[in-house]
Amino acid sequence: MSKKMRQELGGKVSVVTGASGGIGRAIAIELASRGSDVLVLDVNDSSETVAAIDGLGRGSVRSRSEILDIRDRTAVQVSLDRLVADWGSLDILVNNAGTGARVSLEHTTDEIWDQDIDTNLKGVFLMTQSAVYPHMVAAGSGAIVNISSVSGIIGGAPSGDSRIARSGPAYAASKGGIIAFTRWVAKEVGPLGITCNSVAPGPVATRLTASVAYPIDAQPIQRIGLPEDVAEAVAFLVSPGASYITGETLKVCGGSAIS
Ligand SMILES: NC(=O)c1ccc[n+]([C@@H]2O[C@H](COP(=O)([O-])OP(=O)(O)OC[C@H]3O[C@@H](n4cnc5c(N)ncnc54)[C@H](O)[C@@H]3O)[C@@H](O)[C@H]2O)c1
Repeated sequence: MSKKMRQELGGKVSVVTGASGGIGRAIAIELASRGSDVLVLDVNDSSETVAAIDGLGRGSVRSRSEILDIRDRTAVQVSLDRLVADWGSLDILVNNAGTGARVSLEHTTDEIWDQDIDTNLKGVFLMTQSAVYPHMVAAGSGAIVNISSVSGIIGGAPSGDSRIARSGPAYAASKGGIIAFTRWVAKEVGPLGITCNSVAPGPVATRLTASVAYPIDAQPIQRIGLPEDVAEAVAFLVSPGASYITGETLKVCGGSAIS
């Protein structure tokens, strides 16, 4: 069955953070292609993502974007409350927005540390809390996917270039924290009808990684990942077929972090 024929997310309302481009945009498009309405939240303009969804030609699929900083509790709550008031539900949350400094421990400043931890961890916390309480709990259902990284598993992904640092300690700590947070939340919300999983990408070609020459030849699957590879994994984890899966971390890394 072609992607455009898939209907498994028809009638669902999804929120994808950090979807002005890169992996987030691919996730938003994939969910919409499967029939879900999509709200895109990003500190940057995401109108191109909305245009791409509209370009799918799925007349019944609604999409819109808002400029929003996921570190801002009030803005997050107002946005999600408005979404449910307008579109009736919040069924799927994909916490994708993130920042990542490639810097050594020695050169990690307080500002760098706070930037990655606040965005990648506090932002995920605020989005998750505000989606679950009250919206997903009131519905008695929901699916959350948090985008972690193999950095959070192996302790910083190598760059393959001695002149470029591997992903930094704040990034690795935040992405490892996302995996622990995902497991914690899964235990809390499972009895409420909600799943919470994580996807941990390896090297994926986006603006975040544009300057990095990853050691792709050393991977079992010798190519860089595409945003669409991650989007497929997310779409599976929020689909009805994954309703018995929670608290898991699915690596999408070409085998670069087999353990
Ligand atoms: N590209 C990779 O190789 C790779 C590997 C592992 C994990 N990831 C993760 O995938 C996710 C997407 O990364 P990407 O590669 O597409 O990079 P990207 O820079 O294109 O995407 C990150 C998005 O997050 C947004 N954002 C940043 N701070 C925000 C905030 N405070 N509030 C709202 N939006 C904010 C940015 O504007 C951007 O659109 C990130 O969480 C990243 O850590 C990427």
